[in-house]
Amino acid sequence: MKVLKIDGGKTLSGTIRISGAKNSSVALIPAAILADDEVTICNVPEITDTDALTEILEYLGADVKRASESILINPTTIENKEIPKELSTKLRASYYFMSALLGKYKYVEMYFPGGCNIGARPIDQTLKSFRALGATIEEKDNRYKIYADELIGAHIYLDMPSVGATINAMLASVKAKGETIIENAAKEPEVVNVAIFLNGMGAKITGAGTSEIRIKGVDVLKGCYTEVIPDRIEAGTYIIAGALVGSNLKIDNIIPEHVEMLILKMKEMGVKMEIGPDYVVVSKTDNLKPIKIKTQGYPGFATDLQQPITTLLTQCEGISVLEETIYENRFQNVAYLNKMGANIEIDNKKIKVVGKTELNGTEVEATDLRAGACLVLAGLLANNTTKIKNIEHVLRGYENIVEKLSDVGAAIELIEE
Ligand code: EPU
Repeated sequence: MKVLKIDGGKTLSGTIRISGAKNSSVALIPAAILADDEVTICNVPEITDTDALTEILEYLGADVKRASESILINPTTIENKEIPKELSTKLRASYYFMSALLGKYKYVEMYFPGGCNIGARPIDQTLKSFRALGATIEEKDNRYKIYADELIGAHIYLDMPSVGATINAMLASVKAKGETIIENAAKEPEVVNVAIFLNGMGAKITGAGTSEIRIKGVDVLKGCYTEVIPDRIEAGTYIIAGALVGSNLKIDNIIPEHVEMLILKMKEMGVKMEIGPDYVVVSKTDNLKPIKIKTQGYPGFATDLQQPITTLLTQCEGISVLEETIYENRFQNVAYLNKMGANIEIDNKKIKVVGKTELNGTEVEATDLRAGACLVLAGLLANNTTKIKNIEHVLRGYENIVEKLSDVGAAIELIEE
């Protein structure tokens, strides 16, 4: 079993360069299927989630070449066959293959996707969009067969601005006949990244990044080149690390606007930061003020940063309150933070963090990706040694985390136990 061992209390200084966004890459790789020629996706992080999707592409027969930081995908050799259960249940994002294959071939067979255990994660909004476009869906024991004679543009209202459903609706409708309008669409930068990629292929998508996206169907999508945006959640995680143990720690290659909600909340706490055009420099600050946080869709406070920032809330002088509105099971990090010395109470969808508390290294477990990130941050701050089990969750989403943190002064290593 892989365990992450951290000797805490080291000061971090220097520069951490942010990788391409996981949640963009995991949509762009399946979206490549829609092209009728080779596409190049640049700045793709090497993490196990992108590996898992590449494996699906190769299983389907695409020619995939990994160059440093980029992936070249030639989808013209693809055979549209059923994606086996063990491949689709590895991660949530496998369901982008549902919409990409449906959009291109009007037929797809695959299983319900996997993903972190952070709450119920239905796919009803995605399926509703497929039906609105004219598809028939047969489901038995989580195995889906989805097909249509033709897909026809439709007016779709999403019951919640789901990132996954918005991207799926775009991928399924980009080659449909006529116009599709997605109302109450997710506004996350990753949705925009996917729309730019599709438009590069010749799609006609407008409004991505707002709550109304319009897609005029086209017959042919050509090859193109696109770039993955910087990972705002990775950036946010390291910005928080800087506030915990940084001394002029520079988080570089970011789009500051994408982490604005985090920066503004950290300013409310009193964290010392310098914001540049594509970087943030951050240092450990004493006498942090407690704050209130509520997670929301973009541009609100990202649920994916909720667990990481909890570590920082333990260092505020007083009571902070954090409300999670997206996932009902995203507090599994709390028991481990308390084991390390934090004073946090869970009350339904809220947690109350009483600070400031000293954190002490011990054995903890990454129950999911961002819970793991929260514990890495806690380990960097804590006295003595922290060992994090189930670290595979973290490796799914943070490229070269051990190297990046070691390079700025952390005492961190992956060990086998
Ligand atoms: N929801 C439904 N029905 C649906 C879709 C979503 O009820 O058909 C609900 C979910 O139960 C949840 C909420 O809507 O309560 C949000 O779900 P969403 O579909 O937005 O999540 P997702 O697309 O599955 C992506 C990211 C998540 C991130 C969320 C919110 C990917 C692969 N995953 O998930 O990332 O938390 O958006 O921003 O892009 C992570 O990186 O750790 C992670 C979990």
